[in-house]
Amino acid sequence: MLSTRYEDGSAITATDLREQLRTLLVAGHETTATALVWALYRLHREPAVLERLLGELSSAGTDPDPAELMKLPYLDAVCQETLRLHPPVPIVLRRLTGDFTLRGAPLAAGDTMGISVHLLHTDPAVWPEPRRFRPERFLERRYGPFEFAPFGGGHRRCVGAALADYELRIVLATVLTSVRLRLAPRFAHGPTPLSVPHTITVGPRTAITFDVQP
Ligand code: HEM
Repeated sequence: MLSTRYEDGSAITATDLREQLRTLLVAGHETTATALVWALYRLHREPAVLERLLGELSSAGTDPDPAELMKLPYLDAVCQETLRLHPPVPIVLRRLTGDFTLRGAPLAAGDTMGISVHLLHTDPAVWPEPRRFRPERFLERRYGPFEFAPFGGGHRRCVGAALADYELRIVLATVLTSVRLRLAPRFAHGPTPLSVPHTITVGPRTAITFDVQP
């Protein structure tokens, strides 16, 4: 950030730098971290998925370039499927600028309406076996912005989406190729922990823990 320049050649001011760092921390840290823990949880509950992903990562060689990781289709599918089932931001809000009728329900200008990302992502008309973690679905077809919207949509779509996608893939690949993890016994079986509000996101009700394997 310090080395970037505006179009007129000037450097970032201390105020702008502080605001950028605040945005990164407030909007960009917990969202991505929560997605990462859900990805690790799901992968360690689905050995076949983990094995397929590890196979793809090993084919990318040791210490692959981050740009190469971004091209791996199964890694991409795993990250998308994680954001489908566990969207860290559960609702996308809009304030209406005009009157609007939603399926017969009249709404007035100034009202706030929200789109439940979770309901959108589990609509059985779009997602067969919606509760199942199956990254392959993202290799089989492409989903449109009205079907898959973990980063919201339109001109207020998350400005950090590209960075979040990048971070998620690099961190997940690095963790999986550096250590062997095992879900702590209480998480290895049984129901998936509930998601509850954490500051501006939702995440697992209790910290999901892993043991590092020798
Ligand atoms: C997996 C990670 C992330 C998820 C799931 C996520 C999700 C979202 C969602 C759903 C919105 C609302 C979009 C809308 O109203 O249509 C949003 C907005 C926003 N996000 Fe993210 N986000 C993530 C990471 C990040 C990162 C890394 C940054 C910054 C570095 C960031 C910065 C922002 C900002 C500034 C907004 C407000 C945009 C606006 O109102 O114009 N987010 N995010």
